[in-house]
Amino acid sequence: MAGATEKTPQAGRMGVPPRVADLVSDGLEALADTAPELLDLAERELQGRAERLNLVAASSPTAPAVLAAQALGFSALTAEGYPGRRYHPGTAVVDEVEQLAVVRAELLFGASHANVQPLSGSMANLSVLLGLLEPGDPVLAMDLSHGGHLSHVSRPASLAKHLEPTYYQLGEDGTLDIEHVREKARTSRPKVIICGGSAYPRTIDFAALRSVADEVGALLVGDISHISGLVAAGAHPSPFPHCDVVTTSTYKQLRGPHGGLVLRGPDSRVAANAIDAFVFPGFQGTPDFGMLAAKAVALGGALEPGFGEAMGRVVRYARIFAEAFTSRGLSLVGGGTDTHMVLLDLRGQAVTGRDVSRALEAAGILANKNLVPNDPRTPQRTSGLRIGTNHLAFMGIEDPDVRDLAEGIAQLVLDLEADRRPESSAVWHRLAAQVTALVAATEREKQPVSRRTEGKEGIEGIEGVAA
Ligand SMILES: Cc1ncc(COP(=O)(O)O)c(C=O)c1O
Repeated sequence: MAGATEKTPQAGRMGVPPRVADLVSDGLEALADTAPELLDLAERELQGRAERLNLVAASSPTAPAVLAAQALGFSALTAEGYPGRRYHPGTAVVDEVEQLAVVRAELLFGASHANVQPLSGSMANLSVLLGLLEPGDPVLAMDLSHGGHLSHVSRPASLAKHLEPTYYQLGEDGTLDIEHVREKARTSRPKVIICGGSAYPRTIDFAALRSVADEVGALLVGDISHISGLVAAGAHPSPFPHCDVVTTSTYKQLRGPHGGLVLRGPDSRVAANAIDAFVFPGFQGTPDFGMLAAKAVALGGALEPGFGEAMGRVVRYARIFAEAFTSRGLSLVGGGTDTHMVLLDLRGQAVTGRDVSRALEAAGILANKNLVPNDPRTPQRTSGLRIGTNHLAFMGIEDPDVRDLAEGIAQLVLDLEADRRPESSAVWHRLAAQVTALVAATEREKQPVSRRTEGKEGIEGIEGVAA
């Protein structure tokens, strides 16, 4: 590691103020002294990521600047409350950090108010639900095994003990059946209806759900955790003006840090100051200001035109996957996709979601097993495999590569149905080789900016990359 005298001039050249550069490099040196095993683990993790293709639908490639923003020291501050209204002194700077994140969140989603403090998507949901509802209140949410989320008052979540949840299911064709939701709403008379999910690949019709909410006098909460990038880019209909409150995680599609947002539109029936009170003091204490800085960076990135283009690729690539599966006679929940996700339905087949997920992981591809509606298998085995295209869209690969990959995975599923051992499948071997080639070809995209732009040799030195 370079000595202190060498660090500062180099940092200055990169536009990093010396104190900030020292914080990061001194911190790394201290880590090397006190917890070298952590540095080894970090190196192994980064190496593993560089060698794998990530098709986990609930994630996106965290932007390097987002990771750096979290290490700027802002987390080391205690300050409850909101900018200009804190309960602790010395907060002028972090007030500006928070404001930056708020302004960008409002701009990105066209929201009239954003609360950027939730420590996770689940905490955003819990803050809102606990704030809006009284103990024992009826609430209507999507069934967990039909694509809902634990934090939507699902049975295993503790919140279900304190409210009276009813769940709606998907229709026979795996899509949202509005008349079924209406029926459930008419009988359960919920105070809140929650929409959005973890494993729903089709467009969510927020307007239709609003009509149901209006009919029974319920508030509509939309959780766009999985599709927030698509919504921001206009590649999925906006939940505004239909939802009274909108929540999202920031790491799934926004390339942000872990964390959540709560948003409201101008027509919401829930006041901005009520939303703030639900988060603090209603549910959380001091926000993590490092996380807020990182959210500001991610939201800024999502405002760039390149992000919208990437979201276009996200949807196009998911359709390529859907076509590869359906053209081989494999079933998909919802029959296809309008988003970043396809959910393979293996009910009635010998091969399970777990079999496919394991075979893919051994070939260097990450995709998770997932329950499908009316799944006869356990959550450990599952009849579903969920595939997402967020990472592929930022790798700079072309449609033919995505098609090869999708067709290879679809063919592997057919091979595994006949013989559960992946190594007996020629397709599995081809897939493993394809992953190696793809990650090598896109290595440049994964390099830190310093190694990409530090002089011509640096660029020419990376194999397969035009300078
Ligand atoms: C729809 C939905 N909401 C909320 C969450 C929870 O987000 P977090 O992991 O940030 O708590 C998830 C994560 O899986 C999700 O899919």
